[in-house]
Amino acid sequence: MTDWSGGYVTDITYTYGYYNELNPLRVRLGFLNAGLVPPEVATACELGFGQGMSINLHAAASSVQWFGTDFNPAHAGFAQDLARVAESGAQLFDEAFEQFCRRADLPDFDYIGLHGIWSWISDENRRVIVDFVRRKLKVGGVLYISYNTQPGWAAMVPMRDLLTEHAAVMGADGAGIVSRIDAALNFAERLLAVNPAYARANPQIAERIKKIKEQNRHYLAHEYFNRDWRPMSVAQMGEWLASAKLTWACSAHYLDAIDAIHLTAEQQRLLADIPDPMFRQLVRDFCVNQQFRKDYWVKGARRLTPLEQAEALRAQRVIRPTTLGCEPKDHRRPWRGRLAGGRLCAHFGTTCRPQIQNPGSAGTSASGRRPQHHLCPAAAGGAGPDRRWGAIACARRCRHPKGQKAHRAAQCLSDDEGALEQ
Ligand SMILES: C[S@@+](CC[C@H](N)C(=O)[O-])C[C@H]1O[C@@H](n2cnc3c(N)ncnc32)[C@H](O)[C@@H]1O
Repeated sequence: MTDWSGGYVTDITYTYGYYNELNPLRVRLGFLNAGLVPPEVATACELGFGQGMSINLHAAASSVQWFGTDFNPAHAGFAQDLARVAESGAQLFDEAFEQFCRRADLPDFDYIGLHGIWSWISDENRRVIVDFVRRKLKVGGVLYISYNTQPGWAAMVPMRDLLTEHAAVMGADGAGIVSRIDAALNFAERLLAVNPAYARANPQIAERIKKIKEQNRHYLAHEYFNRDWRPMSVAQMGEWLASAKLTWACSAHYLDAIDAIHLTAEQQRLLADIPDPMFRQLVRDFCVNQQFRKDYWVKGARRLTPLEQAEALRAQRVIRPTTLGCEPKDHRRPWRGRLAGGRLCAHFGTTCRPQIQNPGSAGTSASGRRPQHHLCPAAAGGAGPDRRWGAIACARRCRHPKGQKAHRAAQCLSDDEGALEQ
């Protein structure tokens, strides 16, 4: 940790993740499903962009004007290099929130996003962010925010405190964060082995520590070993954001909209009896033992009439991703559409495969975690429909390592539910 970090871990860099919830074009379907007027997004901002994978991909693949900051210069440096190689046009800074949020040269934003930030910063920084949202988010604009919540973390709170305390008190000075993490986890296992009453009251903790031990140390450092770490209920979140005139709009995790896959019939009936939307969310979090929330909040929710909602949903275009190696005959014609606001031409056929395949990783996704779905930025051929996709694809072709990272992350863009067309 350093003077400028405000207690945030800086002696180990964060992972290279892409998070599709940060894509502002995903707001539209969530809002339409909730019966709300979605914003037209022309300007967007990401606070704490980490290695900058998401912000660069969203900037490269759309006409949205992106701004962002991350105070770790190692992160900002990588993200700026990526922006250069991919010609994403994103304006990326290495300023702390407090400094960045005071800049006079920022536009007002239609969309502000923070992923994996809120629970790991001080109240002082939270106030800076809320004030920034109050001043800089346009009327009708959307805040995407993810955070650790309750009751899913309830049992783990004392254990996380123990881990950080061990790292601070028992960790050898100069031993490095990874060694302090390992020592803290080993100590936690020793503690659980003596069958403390805490472990008897919370039998799931031993399994959790076992799983944590298997995780990437870069991730663990940022998740558990910051000075500040506060899971917050959705109701508390509502209180924080009320001063920025925000109200909860809907979950950014599309599947949350389908109650039947999360809640029993009795639970659905209980929730249906609760008129207050925030309290309903709070109770729902108890039903599912929620641990992490990803939500959209809006400045001035406006409701669609049922007819407007039905028409807008019917007009919503989507592109279906296909599976690597699978070429059903009816996929062989080119499909045209828009991905992340940029135009995209997807050829589901033999032309697709050489463009998207990552040598040596066929059959697994870039992260190695997900089933391989893909859409093909056909701009790779040079005559493609979108200059920016071309830039990413081109960076990959010239084998610049950062360009290849951009390309691999570009694959993830299409991993999940499919790409949306506006
Ligand atoms: C857990 S990481 C998440 C990064 C990125 N949003 C993602 O999901 O990959 C949190 C990031 O916030 C940055 N950060 C923490 N406190 C900050 C502050 N006060 N000002 C600017 N950046 C900060 C860290 O450097 C780190 O990259």
